[in-house]
Amino acid sequence: RTLSGRTLEALAEYMKSGKASKIVVMTGAGISTSAGIPDFRSPETGLYANLARLNLPYAEAVFDIAYFRENPEPFYALAHELYPGKFRPTITHSFIRLLQDKGLLLKLFTQNIDCLEREAGVDDDKIIEAHGSFARQSCIDCNQPYPEEEIKRHIENKEIPRCHHCKGLVKPEIVFFGEKMPATFFQNQSLPMQADLCIVMGTSLTVQPFASLPGMTREQTPRVLINKERVGGIGSGSDDVLILGDCDEGVKRLAEACGWLEELEALWAK
Ligand code: OAD
Repeated sequence: RTLSGRTLEALAEYMKSGKASKIVVMTGAGISTSAGIPDFRSPETGLYANLARLNLPYAEAVFDIAYFRENPEPFYALAHELYPGKFRPTITHSFIRLLQDKGLLLKLFTQNIDCLEREAGVDDDKIIEAHGSFARQSCIDCNQPYPEEEIKRHIENKEIPRCHHCKGLVKPEIVFFGEKMPATFFQNQSLPMQADLCIVMGTSLTVQPFASLPGMTREQTPRVLINKERVGGIGSGSDDVLILGDCDEGVKRLAEACGWLEELEALWAK
């Protein structure tokens, strides 16, 4: 065993000892709900439970490339609500930044498209945006990049942007169902094998291949789940630690046990 027990205290002891110096963090929509962005699958509040107004054949169609080609309106209606710039990173985002500042962050794998990790100050070369993001946009036919200022204006005005070259549909480079994941994901997919700690936060681990990442860690690598519910079989390994409940509360408890709470709160308040 690597930890002296499957408790938060044992985990903090391990982190303070300096043995956790290559931490991989894996995140999903649950780390941004306290910023005001709904997650996907929470029963009452999740996006997929609240899309009736968009008249979709099924909820995930809003992020399906074949459906988007036929009817881009529902996606753009949603983009109007979710477009980055209106939301502030949570203390959970700042916790990832703190790990980076301490030189402990090997890589952050995120499924989120809200760019809040970047806004919290996590460096570009530390982030793998597995499902893309709103950071760039291009034409789905000729792949020409499209200017950010223009898409912003169109989304604000509830208009659908069209390519200047071929009049094709423009789409933020979010990975839709039916599209390839970015090459950087596949290039870094086996990185968790090098980690000495794996922290999974705010994800239901239901979408592959992302959901397989925690399973890429070595047998002796402790895995921590900071989430409202148990997911992905984490908790069954001999060095798995479960911190169940709200993730902002979970990271604060962990930071406190490590003696980092003041630093974390100061970083978040900036
Ligand atoms: P989900 O909505 O599937 O899962 C969010 C998880 O976070 C659930 O387990 C919630 O219980 C938990 N959660 C919510 N709020 C929380 C909080 N404040 N504290 C702790 N836990 C909380 O979101 P993802 O796992 O990110 O893909 O979904 C994966 C992918 O499915 C997304 O990237 C998106 C979606 O379809 C694409 O659109 C391609």
